[in-house]
Amino acid sequence: MASQLCGIRATLRRKFPTIGWRFAPFCKLKRLRGCFGLALGVLGAFGGQIYASDVSALIDVLRPPSYPWDFNGIIATLDHASIRRGWEVYKTVCSECHSAKYLAFRELIGVTHTEQEAKALAEAVEIKDGPDENGEMFTRPGRLSDCIPPPFPNEEAARAANNGAFPPDLTYVINARHDGQNYLFSLLTGWSDPPAGVTLEDGQSFNAYFPGGAIGMGQIIDDGAIEFEDGTYASQSQIAKDVVTFLTWTANPEFDTRKLWLIKSTGILLILLISVSYLTRFKFSSLKSRKIYYLPRK
Ligand code: HEC
Repeated sequence: MASQLCGIRATLRRKFPTIGWRFAPFCKLKRLRGCFGLALGVLGAFGGQIYASDVSALIDVLRPPSYPWDFNGIIATLDHASIRRGWEVYKTVCSECHSAKYLAFRELIGVTHTEQEAKALAEAVEIKDGPDENGEMFTRPGRLSDCIPPPFPNEEAARAANNGAFPPDLTYVINARHDGQNYLFSLLTGWSDPPAGVTLEDGQSFNAYFPGGAIGMGQIIDDGAIEFEDGTYASQSQIAKDVVTFLTWTANPEFDTRKLWLIKSTGILLILLISVSYLTRFKFSSLKSRKIYYLPRK
């Protein structure tokens, strides 16, 4: 419509040069249409946001609070003593039901264990290997290159042992859940008696942080559930915090390197910025402030 009006305006202007300008505001319609579209887009985005948050508020689940994780600072790294304690928690408690099959023993070297310790850990487990020259599968002691063997041979066996619920692999679970660290910490410290009106199936426990509330994992950690080899008192929250730190590392093995690179690249960029600004300000100043005249010969 706006273009039609503009066309009319052009014709009128040609015929009656004096009245053409009265139609000028109609040509702004095009720009108005753009503004209108933008406003609609912004409104839509806000509306979507509100709608989406409304929807998730309806889900039958408690949102985990935000805990002040000491590794969440811009250049803060993981506490390696805590990762080592977290490994102890995984090894003694979680590995009974959960696999961490994407983690190899060699990856523990220099992070939680020395090479000798990691070798000893690997040799303590039996790995199924083969086939040998007779076509038979055999077991052998683990090597550093082996991944941590899962507690169950397949998903069906895991379900059968856990009332039909499948304990997921824990290697990347922190990244696989929304707000992973806060969620897992809350989950591991969040069991309680079911509120009135909630009925649980056989083998289920109530945990308000688990979607739906009924979880197939019973309360597995308690104050003093394990003994840490470094003497730290194993309260429920300490165990949860350490295993979360450990699983943050397994899900993000490059965590510390990322922070190191941030420091390095900021340093390099700072040097570049200073040298480039020096170059533009002082070396180019004569070039940039010059004036070029054309003086025709008289
Ligand atoms: C006795 C077996 C058992 C032990 C021990 C156990 N879990 Fe579980 N876990 C389960 C089962 C079964 C599920 C599946 C629950 C479901 O889907 O209802 C589960 C689910 C989970 C989930 C996924 C929750 C989700 O959002 O889907 C996480 C994370 C988890 N466990 C972490 C741990 C950690 C960490 C430990 C060790 C401190 C641990 N579990 C020890 C049986 C166990």
